[in-house]
Amino acid sequence: MGKLIIMDHPLIKHKIGIIRDERTGTKEFREMISEIAMLECYESTRDLQLENVEITTPISNTTVKRLAGKKLAIVPILRAGLGMVPGMEAMIPSAKVGHIGMYRDPDTLNPVEYYCKLPADIEKRDVFVVDPMLATGGSACDAIAQLKKHGCQHIRFLCIIAAPQGLERLQKEHPDVDITVGELDDHLNEIGYIVPGLGDAGDRIFGTK
Ligand code: PRP
Ligand code: URA
Repeated sequence: MGKLIIMDHPLIKHKIGIIRDERTGTKEFREMISEIAMLECYESTRDLQLENVEITTPISNTTVKRLAGKKLAIVPILRAGLGMVPGMEAMIPSAKVGHIGMYRDPDTLNPVEYYCKLPADIEKRDVFVVDPMLATGGSACDAIAQLKKHGCQHIRFLCIIAAPQGLERLQKEHPDVDITVGELDDHLNEIGYIVPGLGDAGDRIFGTK
């Protein structure tokens, strides 16, 4: 089974409190989503391999650590996943970025894929799939299945708010994927929204409602 991290840090809890508040406007909402992504990225990359490099400081020769040449990719699930990209890029600036577009059919809640553009060498990269919301789990599971079809073998999924049923489904359908969650919420309501949640993440990031 892949690793499951549920974040337990005061800075993340504080920032998630801000994005849950319906009074938080688009500018602050976007900033918080990006900052939370940065902190989750920091935690979920603890296992990246390092190598020794000899360098010279202004004072002496020494050995320092450097990330061991692993190729990384960030893949946001459109739209809301885009909000997490700046924070991820701040932590892993050499990562390439692919995009998978999905929307949930409002009646069935099933995801519909409408776009997929990935780095040409995606199968050689460790992939970070990002989406602030894991509700039924359908979008995340389908996006990860699409990446596996492209040959990806090392996939991590990072979200900010998860519903228990989405997390359970993701772990069941993709037991090899490492998952990082900001906070685990209570349940989904009758129209598939996470409770207490934060509403529609895409609309709040892009100001479309
Ligand atoms: C939201 C969210 C996830 C999905 C989660 O996207 O960003 O992609 O719903 O729900 P699920 O776990 O039940 O699949 P939405 O379909 O609203 O599209 P948007 O980001 O373009 O607004
Ligand atoms: N997508 C969202 O943006 N919010 C939810 O609560 C569920 C799915």
